[in-house]
Amino acid sequence: MPDYAVSPSGEQFAIPGPDGYAPELERLEGLVEAARADDKEIVVVMGVGFVGAVMAAIIADTVDPKTGRPSKFVIGCQRPSVRSYWKIPLLNRGVSPVKAEDPEVEPMIARCVLEKRTLTATFNNDCLGLADCVVVDVQCDYSKNDLGNMRTGEADMAALEATMRVIGEKVPPHCLVLIETTVAPGTTEFVAMPIMRKAFRARGIESDPVLAHSFERVMPGRDYVKSIRDFWRVCSGCTPEARERVVRFLEEVLNTDEFPLTVMDRPIESETTKIVENSYRATILAFLHEWSLFAERNGVDLVKVYKAIKVRPTHSNIIFPGPGIGGYCLPKDGGLGYWAYKHVLGFEDQDRVFKITPTAIDINDTRALHAAELVRDALRNMGRYIAGARILLLGASYREDVGDTRYSGSELVVRKLTEMGADVHAHDPYVDHWYEFEKQDTYPAPGHSLARFFRNQGDLVNLRIETDLVAAMKDAEAVVLAVRHEPYLNLSPEDVVAWAGGPLAVVDCFGILSDDQIRRYLELGCEVKALGRGHIRRIKEELRPAGD
Ligand SMILES: NC(=O)c1ccc[n+]([C@@H]2O[C@H](COP(=O)([O-])OP(=O)(O)OC[C@H]3O[C@@H](n4cnc5c(N)ncnc54)[C@H](O)[C@@H]3O)[C@@H](O)[C@H]2O)c1
Repeated sequence: MPDYAVSPSGEQFAIPGPDGYAPELERLEGLVEAARADDKEIVVVMGVGFVGAVMAAIIADTVDPKTGRPSKFVIGCQRPSVRSYWKIPLLNRGVSPVKAEDPEVEPMIARCVLEKRTLTATFNNDCLGLADCVVVDVQCDYSKNDLGNMRTGEADMAALEATMRVIGEKVPPHCLVLIETTVAPGTTEFVAMPIMRKAFRARGIESDPVLAHSFERVMPGRDYVKSIRDFWRVCSGCTPEARERVVRFLEEVLNTDEFPLTVMDRPIESETTKIVENSYRATILAFLHEWSLFAERNGVDLVKVYKAIKVRPTHSNIIFPGPGIGGYCLPKDGGLGYWAYKHVLGFEDQDRVFKITPTAIDINDTRALHAAELVRDALRNMGRYIAGARILLLGASYREDVGDTRYSGSELVVRKLTEMGADVHAHDPYVDHWYEFEKQDTYPAPGHSLARFFRNQGDLVNLRIETDLVAAMKDAEAVVLAVRHEPYLNLSPEDVVAWAGGPLAVVDCFGILSDDQIRRYLELGCEVKALGRGHIRRIKEELRPAGD
C-alpha cells in the first residue's frame, strides 16, 4: 500500500516508492540536457513552500535582457513526505502549491511550467547533481516551550541541516549555494559551511563550497511577487568568489536596477540584518502594548494617538498592534538571534545582553489573552457569562486581506475563549481551512500546537471557517473584530444587531470601529470594548440621559 499525501483541497497523491526514483532522474536529465543546449543555467530551489514556490517561478521567468529568451531552467525540489509531497504534482500541473492573494502568482507559475517550460518540480534530490546554482528555501523554526517566555525555546534547524548535508553530498563542486532561509546568525559560516565541507571532503573534493546568504523579505498578500522580485535585497558570500557569484545571480533574477542590492562583507552580517529588522518591528509593536493598556484605562484612544504620531515623517512607520503579532517571521526571528548568541556563537551571558528582544516577543505572544479578557468583561457588563456564550470571531489570519493564519493572534483569542467555556465560531473571507485547529494534533508539527498551553481544546478540531457572514452572525452573543479585512471595515451596526437577533457584545481588537459606529452600537443596546480605546467610556457617558 503506498502512502498518500493529501493536498489542501483534499486530493490524494500516492508517494513514489523506491522504483520511482530512477525514472524521475531520467526525466530530469532529459529536461536539463535540452535546457543546457539552449544555454540556460540550471537552478534547483530546495523547499517549495510559501517562499520557495514563488521564488522558483520568479527565477524561471527570467529572460536574457539581450535576447529576451528565458535564461534559467528551474527544478523545485521538495521532500516526498506525507505532509508535503502533494506540492510536487500540483506544481507540475502548473498550479501554485501556495494560496496567494496576489493575482500574479498563479499565472506566473502556469506560464513557467506549461508555456515557457522553464519550471518543473521533483521529489528526487539527485537533481542537485545537475545544478549550477541551488537556492535554499526550507524552513528554520524556533520552537517555544512556554507561552510568553521565548527564552526557554530553541531553534529547530533539523530541516536546514539535513538540506545542507544532502546538498554537500550531491552538488557539483563549483555550484553556487544560496541560503535564503531566515537563519540564526552564524549559521551559514559556522553550521552550513562545516556540514558541506565535510561532505565535500568525503567525496574527495578539496575546494570549499561556494556558499552565500541572502534573506527573503517577502510579504504575503497582494504584492507577494513584487515583495520578492521588486524589492531591496541584502546579500553576502563566505568568500569573495561566493559574494561575486551571488551578486551576479540576484542581478539576473531580481529587479536590482530599481531596487539595488546591499552587499555585506560576511554572511553573519546579512543574517543579523534580517534578525534585527524583524526584532525592531516586533519591538515597536510590543512597546505600543503598554500604551494600549494605558489608553484603555485613561480615556485615551490609541488609534488617534498613533495616527497623530504617524504624521511626523520620522515616526511614519508606527502601526497599531492588533490582538497579537503573528505571521511566520516576527514571532520567531528574535528567538533565532537570542538562541544563536549562546548555542552557535558560544556566549553565556545572553540574559544580561538580551532584554528588549525577548520581552517584545513575549508581549506580542500574549497580547491576545487580553483581547479575551475584554470579551469576558463586555459580556459580564451585559449580564451574561462567557461560559456557553456563542461568540463569532471575524478574521483568522495574522494581517489584513491575506489568508495566512500562521501564529495569528486570532488563534490565541479562540483558544483562550474556548478555555473559558465559550462556543467560538470563526469567519474569514480569505481562509478556507484553519489548520491550526482542524489538524491541531499534527500541525504545525506533532506536539507543537498552541493547544498545549490551554485546557479544554479537544473539540476545536471541529472548528470550521464559516463562509456566510450573515448566517454566522445568527444568535451571536459577542462578535470579535480581530483583523482589518476589508469586508469588516464598514459593517453597519444596524445590520450586525439584526443578524445577531439582538444587542450583543462587540470587541474591536484592531482599531476597526469609527467613533460613529461605536456610538451606534451603544445606542442599539450593545456593549463595546476595544484594545487600546479608552475613549469608549466617554462616548457611553455622552449617551447617558442627563441626571442618570
Ligand atoms: N512566509 C513568509 O512570509 C516569509 C517571509 C520572509 C522570510 N521567510 C523565510 O523563508 C523561509 C521559508 O519559509 P516558508 O514560509 O517558505 O516556509 P514553508 O514551510 O512554507 O516552506 C518550506 C518548505 O521546505 C520544505 N522542506 C523542508 N525540508 C526539506 C528538505 N530537506 N528538502 C526539500 N524541501 C524541504 C518543506 O516541506 C516546505 O514545503 C523561512 O526561513 C522563513 O523564515 C518567510
